[in-house]
Amino acid sequence: MIRIAPSMLAADFLHLEESCKVVNDYADIFHLDIMDGSQVPNISFGFPVVEAIAEVARKPLDAHLMIVNPEKYIDRFAAVKGMSMISFHFEATAEPLRLIEQIHSHGIQAGIAFNPDVPVESLFPLIPYCDFLLCMSVFAGFGGQKFIPETLDRLRALKEEIVRTGSNCELEVDGGVGESNAKAITEAGASILVAGSAVFKADDPAAIIASLRQ
Ligand code: DX5
Ligand code: ZN
Repeated sequence: MIRIAPSMLAADFLHLEESCKVVNDYADIFHLDIMDGSQVPNISFGFPVVEAIAEVARKPLDAHLMIVNPEKYIDRFAAVKGMSMISFHFEATAEPLRLIEQIHSHGIQAGIAFNPDVPVESLFPLIPYCDFLLCMSVFAGFGGQKFIPETLDRLRALKEEIVRTGSNCELEVDGGVGESNAKAITEAGASILVAGSAVFKADDPAAIIASLRQ
């Protein structure tokens, strides 16, 4: 099953409830990009916005933590109503297994996010412990960037290892996802598509979401 996770970073912050309605009515997951200005060169939003979204969300929340010292904030994100997936960046920790355990202790799915310059082989030993891997198809930090085509080969390699090891780990893809590449991305093995600009900058977000699912 393919699930669509609109990135709330591209939502209309003056009319956030409208954007939440789009996800509730047509999509599967609320993707929340948390940027601290240190792990990535941009600052997005924090708890007040996440909690406001949680109030109206009827679909699961997915927190993509692009922050240094993720262990400091995992418990607080885990406590947000409807939180069901949390990922931290591979580049942000020396102890990924400990963070996965911390996320799992809250009964929440744990994922590892990684930038396009991280060799996929370095994720292989972690696959058995992850519920999902968040494969960045742009460098984390900004919405609206162009999809890096080499991501498809990276997905294929990860998927092959997942199948080889009999793991249930899912592949989530994030960055520059849209109608022109969604099919290739799912064919390469991804089952969760994050899409910010493609959904929220469209005239008809519902139609785009439907088309991304195909
Ligand atoms: C980038 C974020 C993405 C981004 C996706 O660091 O993790 O989730 O908002 O936005 P688009 O779909 O516009 O590339
Ligand atoms: Zn993201």
